[in-house]
Amino acid sequence: MTIAATPRLVLRNWTEAPADLARLYDMYSRPEIARFLGASANLPLTDPAQARTRVTRWQERHADHGDRYGVWAIEVRDSGLVVGTVLLKPLPGRDESRLTDDIEVGWHLHPDSWGHGYATEAARALVDRELATGTPVVYAVVHPENTASMAVARRLGMTHVGRRTDWYGGEELETFLLRRPA
Ligand SMILES: CC(C)(COP(=O)(O)OP(=O)(O)OC[C@H]1O[C@@H](n2cnc3c(N)ncnc32)[C@H](O)[C@@H]1OP(=O)(O)O)[C@@H](O)C(=O)NCCC(=O)NCCS
Repeated sequence: MTIAATPRLVLRNWTEAPADLARLYDMYSRPEIARFLGASANLPLTDPAQARTRVTRWQERHADHGDRYGVWAIEVRDSGLVVGTVLLKPLPGRDESRLTDDIEVGWHLHPDSWGHGYATEAARALVDRELATGTPVVYAVVHPENTASMAVARRLGMTHVGRRTDWYGGEELETFLLRRPA
């Protein structure tokens, strides 16, 4: 299911099609992807069978949210290549089993697709849509050493508000936010 489209990209569900599962495994088994994603992400993947489990888990976790919140594949329109993941969802709190009312946007790209602006373009579409629904603020939370991810947040026009420990089990994370235009 397509949930959003941009000039270069289609944002859609990850599926259990073999090409999606192979791409997902190739991406999330890489240390450079796992490095900054936190302990709760349980990465890197170590067995191709885990790709299917991930897709199922993402579908189940956000089944009640329709196409508003979720974890989606970013596909390049011209080539059909899946270049990564974009997500929009409620942030887990200090107690990670409980979701807060704070909405986060996030991005993961396969290293072969870094440097083209895909993360920024995909995230912008989701953030604009979410703010247009009346949500006052969208957050991005980033490991303090993840300069590439902080650059995405800045390209989106997000404001850096320092390190906060409100989410993801109390992990200290650089926090960026974008407010709905007045
Ligand atoms: C974070 C991550 C997605 C950033 O990837 P990225 O490719 O740098 O980000 P974008 O897709 O927005 O691309 C921006 C880059 O493309 C360049 N670019 C090229 N063509 C472009 C275009 N048409 N439009 C916009 N930017 C373009 C930009 O100049 C920029 O490069 P620069 O940083 O050298 O100036 C990537 O490093 C990643 O997946 N890391 C691992 C997972 C991760 O840590 N995710 C974040 C968790 S918080």
